[in-house]
Amino acid sequence: MTVLVTGGAGYIGSHTVKALAKAGFEVVVFDNLSSGHRELVRGRNLVEGDLTNKGEVHSLFAEHTFEAVIHFASLIQVGESFHDPHKYYTANLISSLNLLECMLEAGVHTFIFSSSAAVYGEPETVPLLESHPLRPANPYGQTKFFVESILRDYARAYSLRFISLRYFNAAGADPEGELGELHEPETHLIPNILRSLLEEGRTLEVYGIDFPTPDGTPVRDYIHVTDLADAHVLALKKLLEGHEGGFINLGANQGFSVREVIHHVEKVTGRTVAYTEGARRAGDVPVLLASRARAEEWLGWQPGHSDLEEIIRTAWAWHRLWHGRE
Ligand SMILES: NC(=O)c1ccc[n+]([C@@H]2O[C@H](COP(=O)([O-])OP(=O)(O)OC[C@H]3O[C@@H](n4cnc5c(N)ncnc54)[C@H](O)[C@@H]3O)[C@@H](O)[C@H]2O)c1
Repeated sequence: MTVLVTGGAGYIGSHTVKALAKAGFEVVVFDNLSSGHRELVRGRNLVEGDLTNKGEVHSLFAEHTFEAVIHFASLIQVGESFHDPHKYYTANLISSLNLLECMLEAGVHTFIFSSSAAVYGEPETVPLLESHPLRPANPYGQTKFFVESILRDYARAYSLRFISLRYFNAAGADPEGELGELHEPETHLIPNILRSLLEEGRTLEVYGIDFPTPDGTPVRDYIHVTDLADAHVLALKKLLEGHEGGFINLGANQGFSVREVIHHVEKVTGRTVAYTEGARRAGDVPVLLASRARAEEWLGWQPGHSDLEEIIRTAWAWHRLWHGRE
């Protein structure tokens, strides 16, 4: 049973490829290595190519037989999406349209999509249920929202069977130390804190201290990347067994403010985190927190690694290894 994983050389994709291989699936990674890394594919089957090039996607399906597709490949920087929305709409939408067209032409109807909590925008109520209104607050989130709409329409018209997984804040690293987060630029909190401890001259800025939260900094729901990877394997098995698909949040249902995360990093690493307090970033909302009830019910999923200190410990081990400092 061979699964195509687009973006499998990236952070969440590479962890999922490892989980799929452990579960006995054959995997082909398709990635243009724009933000992914050959090292994270770890010798598995990698086809280099760009999803925005329909000819390359077509050739991929002509040369391989896939039972299912998991689609991680995407541009992911919220801030950049404000400055260059055209880049985001073209890359993320054309990639997804090309992929869906070629897979359906090849008779592949099983699809898992990397969506995001960014589809919700500012919550009316937390924890967020999947039925919450979708009002993305940035172009990146809009691209996820549009792809979700496309999936709904394609399911109706072309018998596509899909699960769209809405991740909250992915964090942590492979507990076996083989994989981890390597974004450049890095826009995520935990790796930025850890890198400020390891990289000479790298400073940490906290964006906004006047949010309506207990300590003034934004509260987010951190989910271990290994738990995300496991959820993809469960979702894939469900679809292959013939279960209904749909939209599923993947979060731990635990909120931590930026200051709380810094405190836990200090506890785990035994080091003091220095930071400056800056202005809010456009589109940042005070609190994002997932309901995980549907993931538990539909997938039988439990986030077993998402204790915040386990997240930090695994990420810290990865960054120290990668930076070769200790
Ligand atoms: N990291 C998070 O906290 C988070 C949260 C919510 C959703 N997501 C979504 O999860 C997915 C994976 O995120 P990530 O953090 O692993 O990102 P990442 O940048 O590490 O991985 C994305 C991968 O896609 C590849 N890629 C990008 N455009 C491509 C193209 N046109 N053709 C072929 N390959 C292409 C990149 O080279 C990279 O390997 C993305 O869809 C992202 O939007 C991530």
